[in-house]
Amino acid sequence: MLFTPLEIGPLTLSNRIVISPMCQYSADDGCMNDWHLQHAMQMAMSGAGMFVVEATAVERRGRITHHCVGLYSDQNEDSIRNVLNAARSVATNDLKFAIQLGHAGRKASHNVPWQGGKALAMNEDSWITVAPSALPFTQGAHLPEALNKEGLQQIIQNFVNAAIRAVRLGFSAIELHGAHGYLIHEFISPISNQREDEYGGTLTNRMKFPLEIFDNVRKVVPANIPLGIRLTGTDWRDDGLSIKDSQVVAQNFAEHGADYLCISSGGITTGLEIPIAPNYQVHLAKAVKDVVSIPVRAVGLITTAEQANKIIIKEDADMVTLGRAFLANPRWVWDASIELDFPIKVPPQYERAYKAP
Ligand SMILES: Cc1cc2nc3c(=O)[nH]c(=O)nc-3n(C[C@H](O)[C@H](O)[C@H](O)COP(=O)(O)O)c2cc1C
Repeated sequence: MLFTPLEIGPLTLSNRIVISPMCQYSADDGCMNDWHLQHAMQMAMSGAGMFVVEATAVERRGRITHHCVGLYSDQNEDSIRNVLNAARSVATNDLKFAIQLGHAGRKASHNVPWQGGKALAMNEDSWITVAPSALPFTQGAHLPEALNKEGLQQIIQNFVNAAIRAVRLGFSAIELHGAHGYLIHEFISPISNQREDEYGGTLTNRMKFPLEIFDNVRKVVPANIPLGIRLTGTDWRDDGLSIKDSQVVAQNFAEHGADYLCISSGGITTGLEIPIAPNYQVHLAKAVKDVVSIPVRAVGLITTAEQANKIIIKEDADMVTLGRAFLANPRWVWDASIELDFPIKVPPQYERAYKAP
């Protein structure tokens, strides 16, 4: 089952295995470089159905760190084109390239994880962050500016401009980042959205701005390119989003024309108690799958072929996304194909290393 094709809107994936978007924290003013080239080249030969390029900021201030990829300038676009063209030239198994567009909101202006992942100090060229409300992510984090109406329109325009660039780059799918405590999620969650205008209050109001972003992006993404979104399944806090809320959010994005959903969780604040274990978010994907008719992707500690295959066979999700497993082993799909007895195409130059079943 893991190796059967899947249609997401107008696009057919050769199998159900997706490489999760993963920030590499290695860009310069949003531009990809040789690091991204080697990363994309490895993933291109993985045999997966789709590779989602890391969270890509729609504006400079929407980057988590100084080294996040962006798509807000011609230079950014050219740098991504170089990487994408090279990766496409070696891609196997009809791999589709997608990009995740996002805005870090109040979680912007931090240093990279291997330097502590803390809020940047003034002498580290920090910048003013924006959010639905002037509430810091955690103690000691930046106090964001609450976006006014003009600011909201500017953000929508930035998403639209980045989407136009992504279409021009020839991505086969575009995904919005609506999870992990970044701007879109910050609007949906009552923990970070305490606005008193029409963008805050009820769940319907809190979804309004994210849906406006989605609708405006949808208008510039041609119908032959699927537009999906990664959402949170729960905030893991009593005063946050529950799975019931997330089902409603998911239904709304589906009604607005989303071609697929990826259900993740966490990240809205620090100190969450998340029962991290294999498949710990699969029940969230399943709960969403129960209420929508578009494909749903599961993610989170899916690491073995048997485990991934079971998720698809049980119809808990339509696709699985793996992150760290691919960093550890970019040939994960080759191994899975042998274990599950389903031959795939690998580059002929490497064929002698692949013991096709
Ligand atoms: C290095 C790293 C970078 C990540 N960057 C992103 C990102 O850009 N966008 C996103 O939605 N999730 C990001 N994540 C989360 C992963 O996409 C994935 O949801 C998470 O790692 C759980 O899946 P896994 O257990 O298969 O790694 C990142 C995770 C890692 C390890």
